[in-house]
Amino acid sequence: MKKILATFAVSGLITMAGTTAQAADYVGSDQCFQCHQEKYNDWQSSGHPWKLRKVDKARSAKLPLPPGWSWDDLSYVIGGAKQKARYIDNEGYIVTTAKDGSEAKTQYNLQDGSWSFYHKGEKKPYKCGPCHMTAYNKEGNQDGLPGMIGTWAEDGIGCEECHGPGSEHVAKPAATNIAINTSVASCGKCHQRGGMGPQPPAKGGFIRHHEQINELMAGAHKDLSCIECHDPHKKAILAKNNCVECHSDIAEKYAKNIHSQQGTTCVQCHMPKVTKNAIKVSQFEGDVRTHIMKLNTDPKVSMFTTVKKDGKKSTYAEGFVTLDFACLSCHGSRDREWASKYGTNFHGK
Ligand code: HEC
Ligand code: HEC
Ligand code: HEC
Ligand code: HEC
Ligand code: HEC
Ligand code: HEC
Ligand code: HEC
Ligand code: HEC
Repeated sequence: MKKILATFAVSGLITMAGTTAQAADYVGSDQCFQCHQEKYNDWQSSGHPWKLRKVDKARSAKLPLPPGWSWDDLSYVIGGAKQKARYIDNEGYIVTTAKDGSEAKTQYNLQDGSWSFYHKGEKKPYKCGPCHMTAYNKEGNQDGLPGMIGTWAEDGIGCEECHGPGSEHVAKPAATNIAINTSVASCGKCHQRGGMGPQPPAKGGFIRHHEQINELMAGAHKDLSCIECHDPHKKAILAKNNCVECHSDIAEKYAKNIHSQQGTTCVQCHMPKVTKNAIKVSQFEGDVRTHIMKLNTDPKVSMFTTVKKDGKKSTYAEGFVTLDFACLSCHGSRDREWASKYGTNFHGK
């Protein structure tokens, strides 16, 4: 592992009783396994470690390859754990054409097995910054490949991206020589677009993806931290099922509703797939659940607003979700007026 002077550890260690800040090294997530097996296994089945994989690891993932390309022509796979996969050639550039240079769709979408264009024909360096790697440093080129912009200690989001460098802790385990950061910003630095502020950028009738903190800040739960609802080591579908803990009054009433009796959960109405990562399923269904959660029953209001900034038009989502998204994915033959009629005062006064 590379030796990196850890600015992370400095900020992390300052808060720890009795320790002076000093540089530790990144040792890699595999070093944590022997003592934290449960955490390690949870993390393995979440998306975080799979964000960027060398081909020798990715080969076994049964992902199809873009036209003409073989595993020997590739160096890395980006994602491919949940929604989509993109591929990196042996020079470190993201694949945007068929192997022979002709036009081709090069992004594989896991949910429906379709392919999409990705910056077709462009020479596209992998400069996906600090959001996909552990201990990202913008200087240099990983593996000496010209298309790989920056260097990092471990591919994907390893234990030490969140806990800081672990060499001292591994040598002499103690609670005081490893960092824990529970702030919303520690997750939001990657789960954001255009900053961590409340305006979620939108495009084509959907919120764009990796904007969980923007959505959270715009919506019903401005003051909650991500880990209030997520174990950060576990995948999203294992989010704590805790709406009821804070909204017990609503939950009690909801238990008598036909939806509850049919097994519809809070999340299905309040976190509809208003956000698009790889594909849209229909006009009102993308492929990522939103964190806005507040529903607006007005049948006329628009979820999106376009503002002019520095002569450029930008579209953002408002801090609410309209009922076309919340209801029509299940009630496809109905419309917003219908939804509004039944949705207003949905849980009673
Ligand atoms: C040799 C065993 C060992 C290894 C290897 C190890 N840990 Fe630990 N870790 C411990 C023990 C023991 C504790 C509990 C210390 C205590 O409660 O006093 C701990 C505690 C922690 C904590 C909680 C700290 C707190 O403030 O409560 C974190 C986070 C952590 N380890 C992360 C890691 C990471 C990341 C790695 C890999 C870089 C790692 N550990 C490797 C033994 C180990
Ligand atoms: C995405 C960020 C992130 C990653 C990756 C991550 N952790 Fe954590 N970890 C946290 C946060 C945040 C907490 C505090 C959780 C809380 O207080 O509810 C935590 C808590 C812990 C704790 C102590 C508290 C407990 O729940 O027992 C240990 C031990 C730990 N992590 C080990 C690991 C190991 C080992 C890995 C890698 C296999 C890892 N973590 C990967 C963010 C992360
Ligand atoms: C600001 C941080 C950030 C940047 C910059 C970023 N991503 Fe991501 N990316 C994320 C997050 C967070 C997710 C998962 C959450 C979501 O989709 O809402 C994600 C998801 C993905 C996925 C889907 C992973 C899977 O397993 O389904 C791919 C592929 C991907 N990004 C590729 C890229 C590429 C290529 C670039 C650079 C051109 C890039 N990203 C830049 C944060 C970022
Ligand atoms: C009020 C509870 C709550 C808070 C706060 C919260 N989440 Fe979630 N999150 C959930 C639930 C519930 C799901 C959906 C789980 C499912 O699909 O069943 C989810 C899903 C996700 C997903 C996957 C979305 C998808 O459909 O692909 C990501 C990524 C995510 N959360 C990240 C975050 C981040 C980052 C934060 C903090 C900025 C955060 N969450 C705050 C409850 C919460
Ligand atoms: C270094 C950037 C980074 C940090 C820090 C980070 N994430 Fe992520 N997160 C990602 C990326 C990228 C993905 C997409 C991984 C994939 O699916 O391939 C992701 C995926 C997720 C998912 C969906 C995983 C799944 O299996 O469905 C959840 C939930 C999540 N992150 C929560 C958190 C929480 C909570 C924190 C803070 C404790 C956090 N993340 C910190 C970049 C980050
Ligand atoms: C840790 C506590 C907590 C959890 C967990 C939580 N909420 Fe909330 N929720 C709140 C608080 C606090 C408010 C703000 C109340 C207010 O504005 O009066 C709120 C507001 C809301 C609102 C908006 C009310 C409005 O119209 O202004 C909705 C909708 C909502 N929550 C749904 C959910 C759902 C769905 C979940 C589960 C995925 C959930 N909440 C989980 C605490 C929580
Ligand atoms: C996850 C799917 C799902 C979502 C989302 C959903 N519903 Fe339903 N809804 C159902 C099911 C299932 C039934 C029961 C149908 C039956 O038994 O005939 C139902 C029944 C109803 C009924 C009574 C039967 C009827 O068709 O007249 C109304 C009214 C209704 N839903 C309104 C709404 C509204 C308003 C929303 C959005 C706020 C919504 N639903 C969101 C699945 C859903
Ligand atoms: C079938 C769709 C549906 C389901 C499922 C659902 N809600 Fe709602 N919820 C709504 C609608 C629609 C509104 C908006 C009502 C209005 O503004 O008049 C709402 C409003 C709310 C509010 C805002 C306060 C209020 O009384 O209007 C909270 C909080 C809330 N829901 C929490 C929950 C929780 C917690 C669950 C699960 C126990 C849940 N909801 C399940 C449709 C649903």
